[in-house]
Amino acid sequence: MADLILVIDEGTTSTRAMLFRPDGTCLATRAAQLTQHYPEPGRVEHDAAEIWDKTLSVTRAVIDEAGGAEKIAAIGITNQRETVVFWDRETGEPLAPAIVWQDRRTAATCRALKKAGHESVVQAKTGLLLDPYFSGSKIGWAMAHWPAVKAAGARLAVGTVESWLVWKLTGGLHITDATNASRTALMAIGSGQWDDGLIDLFAVPRAALPEIVDCAGQFGTTTLFGSPIPICGIAGDQQAATIGQSCLAVGETKATFGTGAFVLSQAGPTPPTSRHRLLSTIVWQLGGRRSYALEGSVFVAGSLIKWLRDEVGLIGTAAETEALARSVPDNGGVYLVPALSGLGAPWWEPDARGAISGLSFSTGKAHIVRAALEAMAHQAHDLKTAFAADGVDWASVRIDGGMVANDWMAQDMADILDVSVERPKFAETTALGAAMLAGIGCGLFSDLAEASVMRGAVETFEPMMPPETREARLAGWKVAVESAIA
Ligand code: G3P
Repeated sequence: MADLILVIDEGTTSTRAMLFRPDGTCLATRAAQLTQHYPEPGRVEHDAAEIWDKTLSVTRAVIDEAGGAEKIAAIGITNQRETVVFWDRETGEPLAPAIVWQDRRTAATCRALKKAGHESVVQAKTGLLLDPYFSGSKIGWAMAHWPAVKAAGARLAVGTVESWLVWKLTGGLHITDATNASRTALMAIGSGQWDDGLIDLFAVPRAALPEIVDCAGQFGTTTLFGSPIPICGIAGDQQAATIGQSCLAVGETKATFGTGAFVLSQAGPTPPTSRHRLLSTIVWQLGGRRSYALEGSVFVAGSLIKWLRDEVGLIGTAAETEALARSVPDNGGVYLVPALSGLGAPWWEPDARGAISGLSFSTGKAHIVRAALEAMAHQAHDLKTAFAADGVDWASVRIDGGMVANDWMAQDMADILDVSVERPKFAETTALGAAMLAGIGCGLFSDLAEASVMRGAVETFEPMMPPETREARLAGWKVAVESAIA
């Protein structure tokens, strides 16, 4: 009997396939690391063929573990957002590298558009800002700089990563869900449709874009694994994590610490308007009805620890950071501003670069590592201030993502944010959210409230830090971040 849900979670650094029971139990996980290409400072690319090959192999592996495709009721897809893929409709092969969300190559274009006064219209229509983070300017850049993309003409298909995967899985269906579309800066988030004015502003070929669909439904079938399996759920990874954390009531807030850190607060059926450099985004679209969130996007979180391990060689494994942070009583005056790909919310400074300040001969490795972990709470605190200024005070925050397995960091988050921090025992909430959507799409659940049975137990971290310690930490961070921008 087909009662398992297969999730494809295609993140920035790895692609995974996971198998869930309808009660939320995770039965199997397979992961493969993705190669990060940094052709120049500020540029980040992926090989879309590698994304597909690795997705296929991890998916095959969990289907084998399930005992065959006939055991799978539905596939849910969740993905790194904003990253754009360019492919040929006839061959189904990529025409160029995928431009990753972290890529800053369109900083000058965005600055020029901002200077020309376009930001207020972009913000009003899309809920986003003029920053190279979003897909629109990346597509325009590829059309102008990559002859193979431009020359493809009617054969060109463009899409974010879920579109690419659906195309490959189904052999030619070209769709995107509303959450991913809402990150392109090409969609009017109030209507859920592509906007011709935005398409012209970023010089994007309209005919190459996919059709925008709901997050749950019967979207097509893959026959690559033997018995046909329907694709029934799709959402961008941060929206999926919001769903997986059951942030269904207005004000409920989650923070995911993956490659970057993304905080989304449920805003209900009306798009919120930020006056403090936050984003308004679609958190799901079901039955044609949209729900929105206010979002703060921080570009560097887990990628900082990966960089300290792989490029700097300061640590051997990410897990070491907890013991190192605990081995010193405080940061010793060291602050680390992780602007390795500029700064996102609430600063939006694409040209800012990372900095480590406060070094002295008494600084040891543990202080630098502790400063790196502390930067997570500091960045989250900047968002908390911006959310509060926009009228959204966090009563508590639900955390998830690879980094939050670190108990020291979870406690530091509660201490610096000065609110309760909830951590689910099963931390893969992104995949869980995609499984919930797929469960709705294939009829296992009638709505998100019912699908929330999949979310398990949580543990809570309460703030314990004396106010003067918190204030001193935040004052030190303020000086550090402002000098990184100056
Ligand atoms: O907006 C970018 C985001 O979707 C990337 O997510 O999980 O790779 O940090 P992640």
